[in-house]
Amino acid sequence: MFVTAAEGGTATASVAVEALDELPAALASADLALPGTLAVTVGEETLAFTAGTVGDPAPLPHGKEADASAAAARARVVEGKVAVVTGGAQGFGAEIVRGLVSSGAFVYIADLNGEGAASLAAELGPTTAAITVNVADEDSVAAMAATIAATTGGLDLVVSNAGIVRAGSVLEQEAADFRLTTEINYTAFFLITKHLGRLLAAQRRTAPVWATDIIQINSKSGLVGSNKNGAYAGSKFGGIGLVQSFALELVEHGIKVNAICPGNFYDGPLWSDPDRGLFVQYLRSGKVPGATTVDEVREFYEAKVPLRRGTYGSDVMRAIYYLVEQEYETGQAVPVTGGQVMLSS
Ligand SMILES: NC(=O)c1ccc[n+]([C@@H]2O[C@H](COP(=O)([O-])OP(=O)(O)OC[C@H]3O[C@@H](n4cnc5c(N)ncnc54)[C@H](O)[C@@H]3O)[C@@H](O)[C@H]2O)c1
Repeated sequence: MFVTAAEGGTATASVAVEALDELPAALASADLALPGTLAVTVGEETLAFTAGTVGDPAPLPHGKEADASAAAARARVVEGKVAVVTGGAQGFGAEIVRGLVSSGAFVYIADLNGEGAASLAAELGPTTAAITVNVADEDSVAAMAATIAATTGGLDLVVSNAGIVRAGSVLEQEAADFRLTTEINYTAFFLITKHLGRLLAAQRRTAPVWATDIIQINSKSGLVGSNKNGAYAGSKFGGIGLVQSFALELVEHGIKVNAICPGNFYDGPLWSDPDRGLFVQYLRSGKVPGATTVDEVREFYEAKVPLRRGTYGSDVMRAIYYLVEQEYETGQAVPVTGGQVMLSS
């Protein structure tokens, strides 16, 4: 049985409980003619619910147990499609690869770390292929496009995910670090869209009803500034400018271009690597006042998020499914931040 809050209506049955968490047991023992509208009295308050007996909808995994494949309820939108995920060997990229593969897509795992990409491809099997690529190098990106064209011919979904963080004060940061961040997080999106966009456009010419997608994995730092992290935030803000501009241009080729702006992926290597992760770095540098353990540093950051946790791969996957499924949106930046960043315009 499922019970959901109803807009109103006339109750066909009623049940009284002291607290809402007693409701499942009360419903199980009550003799109710369902489906119908149910009046539930909790203490003094009466609430209306819609209750049905059409069978238990499979509960979606949630919370920490939910890996990227947990979002597979919307899997049909990518089933049978061909996708490429840059930076797919680890972190968010690997989560996205796993999510897409479990949803029935063929996925190119494209990464500078060719070994990591190959080992993930070996683990996930024949609906994947590894490509070694440097997304900041035009020849390398062009070679990746040629490999894809020669292997599957077509391409439906590009997830431009590879990115780096080089944090540092504007008063001290080396220009080389600033440039590297800009090359990989910003310029590379131009190169990816240029070379892989041509494949998507070609696909559209052969199948004119077929819409394709370019999705940039941006960041909440593409929506609000980031203290002592200007190179990163600037590259991500710029990324949204490219997304909006390319979206306008590529409409005529049936290509939607959107960004997803995740919050922090606390379970990923960037934060949780025991030697080089940000939690351990922030603990050592005393960035979080009073914190004496990695767990305390983590709690400090989780407390900044209204939904009280970091972003999971499954959260990002749900946004990907949405953007692929949605036929009437392009040029958007979708926040997936647990409420930490809210759009204002
Ligand atoms: N981790 C977070 O908290 C977080 C939050 C918001 C957004 N993001 C964004 O998500 C994306 C992935 O971040 P992550 O934390 O999973 O990163 P990560 O460091 O865990 O993984 C990045 C992957 O990209 C690859 N890569 C790096 N440079 C490359 C290049 N020049 N060419 C090809 N591949 C390259 C790396 O080898 C690695 O496999 C980035 O765009 C990042 O800005 C991350």
